[in-house]
Amino acid sequence: MCGIVGYTGKDKCIPKIISGLESLEYRGYDSAGIAYIINGEIEIKKEQGRIANLKESIKLNEDSYTGIGHTRWATHGKPCKVNSHPHHVGKITLVHNGIVENYESLKAELKEYKFVSETDSEVVAALIDKLYSEEKDMLKVLVKLKDTLVGSYALGILVEGEDKIYAIRKDSPLIIGVSEDGNFIASDVPAILEYTNMYYLILNDEFAELTKDDIVIYDRDGNVSTKNLLTFEGSQEAAMKNGYEHFMLKEIYEQPKVIMDTIKEYIYNLDNLNEKMSGLEKYDEIDIVGCGSAYHVGLVGKSLITKYGKKRVNVDIASEYRYTEHVYSKNNLIILISQSGETADTLAVLRQAKEEGIDTLAIVNVVGSSIAREADRVLYIKAGVEVAVATTKAYICQLMMLSLIALYLGLKNNVLDESIVEEYENIDALIEEILSDTKDTEEIANSIYQNKDVFYLGRKVDYALSMEASLKLKEVSYLHSEAYAAGELKHGTISLIEEGTPVISIITDDDIRLKTLSNVKEVCARGAKSYIITNEEVLDKDLYTKVIMIPKLHDLVGSVLVMVKCQLIAYYVAKLNGCDIDKPRNLAKSVTVE
Ligand code: F6R
Repeated sequence: MCGIVGYTGKDKCIPKIISGLESLEYRGYDSAGIAYIINGEIEIKKEQGRIANLKESIKLNEDSYTGIGHTRWATHGKPCKVNSHPHHVGKITLVHNGIVENYESLKAELKEYKFVSETDSEVVAALIDKLYSEEKDMLKVLVKLKDTLVGSYALGILVEGEDKIYAIRKDSPLIIGVSEDGNFIASDVPAILEYTNMYYLILNDEFAELTKDDIVIYDRDGNVSTKNLLTFEGSQEAAMKNGYEHFMLKEIYEQPKVIMDTIKEYIYNLDNLNEKMSGLEKYDEIDIVGCGSAYHVGLVGKSLITKYGKKRVNVDIASEYRYTEHVYSKNNLIILISQSGETADTLAVLRQAKEEGIDTLAIVNVVGSSIAREADRVLYIKAGVEVAVATTKAYICQLMMLSLIALYLGLKNNVLDESIVEEYENIDALIEEILSDTKDTEEIANSIYQNKDVFYLGRKVDYALSMEASLKLKEVSYLHSEAYAAGELKHGTISLIEEGTPVISIITDDDIRLKTLSNVKEVCARGAKSYIITNEEVLDKDLYTKVIMIPKLHDLVGSVLVMVKCQLIAYYVAKLNGCDIDKPRNLAKSVTVE
């Protein structure tokens, strides 16, 4: 995900583009750049890192009235100056949000061009330059372009010698803002709200030509199209949340998409899985290390990799692992899980492992982060930018990545056969189904939000999921919560169960279902309000306050459905308690201290 902005008008463009980019920083922030026209020439400035770096390195009051800008979330190529946008080829300078899938074949055809970056976007700039040299007319070029590019794109384009911005989109968002003093392009409404709340929504394959005092929008065939001017009523922050009350809820609802983005990246087909995971079978022992939710993902991963990969797996919290003695096997791998890729303890484990000569594999969301850069190998999840401090969509994508590793190993050693891949195909639709009706989770939230303590119970993977569910609940709602291995409760903690104590039990593992249910009955007998999340009808329904059913899936993928329910419970409890859901007290999104 990246953000693009452009402005052409009577005012100086650079301050407007920079403030637009700042409000799009939630879409990505590993590098930023701007191109603007000054005395008829196009100037380009780029910096690695946050927009603040770019802002410091440019003069805001340059005499320029037309320009485009970009904030990047690296997809092709690491975050660095040369890969950042705008890209300039021949007469064309452009910013791009999206992923062009056929860029490698296009690059091979565009032999006359010398490419300096690793990006798909530079190839698009070269393609447009080539088409422009043939057609000499950008409108004809844009009609042709959409028949040539495969993938997603929102482009803002400057052409040498023209004081205009061209823009086109397919499957990446694009709006055109209209103000008295000039016209904007942007990936999202917040980018223009400081100056105007009026905008056109550009649809797939439509394109536009913006001058200082005119906007012409064209349909896919190049005919002028008439559109309704829309008005955004609301604040900039509300616009960034895209209609959701909180980022956490927005990110929960993004899960069907990001989980599929992650799955498709790795099992586009089996060859692609083999290529991305190749060599993992050679390890006989794997240590998985992370903090908080990332550690909980590791616990689920341990179960799947042991069962299907037939490997010995250890899981530990990074802050413990780094200060513990370890005996490594000859073929030992350390998997480091970190959304941000900057967590201090996880990074320390990585550095120690490298010193000891142990192979490392990082599962990371933020491209080019320290852990991603320093690990021997990286598997990126495709969660996009996560703004809410409590992780939801990154956790789900990490879970899927561990499942894909187990899948790869299981296929390699014939514990699984290829038909298993079908299990991954429908997962987005099933999450969407859960998200389309949240009555059951809201009901549970209503019934527990005034309690002081909430317990989660489960066995095996359900216990690992309980730990994450409990963390989610306590961090956003401030209710005290603990997760217990269902069989362990009677060794002490059951003394805390009294009349009305909420106990939420996760029961999805057939092998152990009856055992967990017996433990649930033990807490019911002591007056607990008992809630069950399960994938199989339970008998004695009257014993329980509420039973939530989820579809029964293969255990390689089933955990994600449980977690979506638990995230919603945590969210609604926090909302009922009036908590600062996106920024819970005392927490930070990226924990870069020990
Ligand atoms: C909980 C949460 C944290 C993180 C932990 C590790 O909702 O977000 O527990 O999972 O701080 O962070 P990363 O994954 O960035 O290393």
